Amino acid sequence: MNYQDLFSRLWNEYALQNPSAKKIYNLFSYEGETIENDHIAFRTFNDNRINIPVISKAFEKIGYIPKGEYFFEEKKLRAIHLENNIVENSPRVFISELELEKCSAFVQDTINNVLNSMRLEEVKKEEIIFKGNVWGKPEFAIYEKLRNESEYAAWVYVYGFRTNHFTVSINSLKKYNTIEKVNEFLKQKGFILNSSGGEIKGTPEMLLQQSSIMADIIDVEFKEGVHQIPACYYEFALRFPDADGKLYSGFHAKSADKIFESTNFYTKE
Ligand code: NI
Repeated sequence: MNYQDLFSRLWNEYALQNPSAKKIYNLFSYEGETIENDHIAFRTFNDNRINIPVISKAFEKIGYIPKGEYFFEEKKLRAIHLENNIVENSPRVFISELELEKCSAFVQDTINNVLNSMRLEEVKKEEIIFKGNVWGKPEFAIYEKLRNESEYAAWVYVYGFRTNHFTVSINSLKKYNTIEKVNEFLKQKGFILNSSGGEIKGTPEMLLQQSSIMADIIDVEFKEGVHQIPACYYEFALRFPDADGKLYSGFHAKSADKIFESTNFYTKE
């Protein structure tokens, strides 16, 4: 699969499952903006059957190489980001994994059971990034129990391997060229911003500012019946030039830590 096909397929599936993202994309387009994608993100567990190197494979095949590494102590996560130096203006790819050995026996056992029920031959393929949940219908009771300890674990348990978010590059926008303008526009249109740690994560001095909407609430079929839970979200990022005049290309763990919470459980009024 080539670069173009891979990203169109990821975007089409993501946009279908997350109507707010498509809606926001269209709203900016009507305003005459051309949207570039700053980065996409995947989530997984650090089990070697499906860990970061496994998820990276499809991206390495089309020219991506690992660049930065990040740690999130409280959430027990490790992440890397990859960049593609071949294709111009290609989005960064951010992949995180839950460090299972740091979790409770309940989380470890549950995730291990779930991974044991995967069909491994399916999982080895680079197609894994399109597969979603490869362990079958989730149990709502388990989802709830996982959430008590890790919203991240609960999210991956339900959704598996799919793009967790796409990101509008504010640098590509003309009229909405600050994060304040973007956030104001989104709020006017009725979207709920993730306000954990403030609506804007990061500062110009940190060379990266980010914000995001809270994930769409969608119907998910559990073994016990349909429940409404958060799915994926849309993010917004503005990058600033470093001392050499080059746009900063990394991430900040402190900001990303709060952005992760865009998929935390919430109910719409
Ligand atoms: Ni992000």
